Amino acid sequence: GRSIILDVDTGTDDAVAIMFAALHPEIELLAVTTVNGNVPLADTTDNTLRVLDWIERPEIPVFAGLSRPIARSGFPGARHFDRDSGNDPHGSALPIPPPRGTAQDVGAVEYLVETLRSTTEPLTLVPVGPLSNIATVLTIDPSLTEAVEEVVVMGGGHATTNVTASAEFNIWADPEAANVVFSAGFRRLTLVPLDATHRALVTRSACRVLEGLATPAGIAAARFIGRRIDAYGASAAGEEAAPVHDVLCTAYLVRPDVITTRHLALTVETASPLTIGRTVMDTRPGSTATRNAHVAFDADAALLIELLTQVFGTDA
Ligand code: BDR
Ligand code: CA
Repeated sequence: GRSIILDVDTGTDDAVAIMFAALHPEIELLAVTTVNGNVPLADTTDNTLRVLDWIERPEIPVFAGLSRPIARSGFPGARHFDRDSGNDPHGSALPIPPPRGTAQDVGAVEYLVETLRSTTEPLTLVPVGPLSNIATVLTIDPSLTEAVEEVVVMGGGHATTNVTASAEFNIWADPEAANVVFSAGFRRLTLVPLDATHRALVTRSACRVLEGLATPAGIAAARFIGRRIDAYGASAAGEEAAPVHDVLCTAYLVRPDVITTRHLALTVETASPLTIGRTVMDTRPGSTATRNAHVAFDADAALLIELLTQVFGTDA
């Protein structure tokens, strides 16, 4: 199996990814690091603790990271939804009880630097929020990429965007951090953008199957995804559905065939006000640009649902 560290801005889809990674027998979830993103750092940290308590994995440590982008005082603009407009797929607090425990005293960056410096096995980093923590680690010590066998990033968009006409939220929220990560020279960087996550929509009936598992994870997944469907109002197979972006990254770890990737040059806009945070993916067949990322453009929705049902169905 894989030893991984999840970096999250828990939110409803981050929560599903945390449960998947914590419960899947082929994944060793060493720790979860939190970052400012969907909601402020205090809330992403609190939500992460709630999820681990809910699935009875309080021994998995949580480390709080950056509360803002690395090179800006805040986001480069207004976000695509506001809390009280009803189209918020997250909400400040997850609809499960408050946590019993607390985050570790050590911060996420210190934890990541120490762990990457001392690990005797190659690790997989899975950032599914803004890349502020990961970028800060690399700025402290660029050689730490050598301890990472693969970084799997949820973020970006080519034909599909969300927070602006140009960009996807995770990358837009801290574009300078994304630039550091994309240009760091990781052995393998896999990007799961909106183009892929929107091809793996989860429907109301799939939520009913998850709820029917009658396990803590199945019940919570159904609740979190149901909230997303209420906010998104997307549709698949003639019924309401929503993307559950972040869990596609953890599903990929155990079944790489859940996505289809292309090896290409990936960069990010960090200057233009109009296109700030846009992931620029060089899809030209003859491009001679350095191919630094394996980018997913397709996903297998049925396989994702099968994996969720398997891992949330066993009261491990
Ligand atoms: C990303 O932003 C958040 O809304 C989700 O948690 C996901 O990581 C999608 O753009
Ligand atoms: Ca996220």
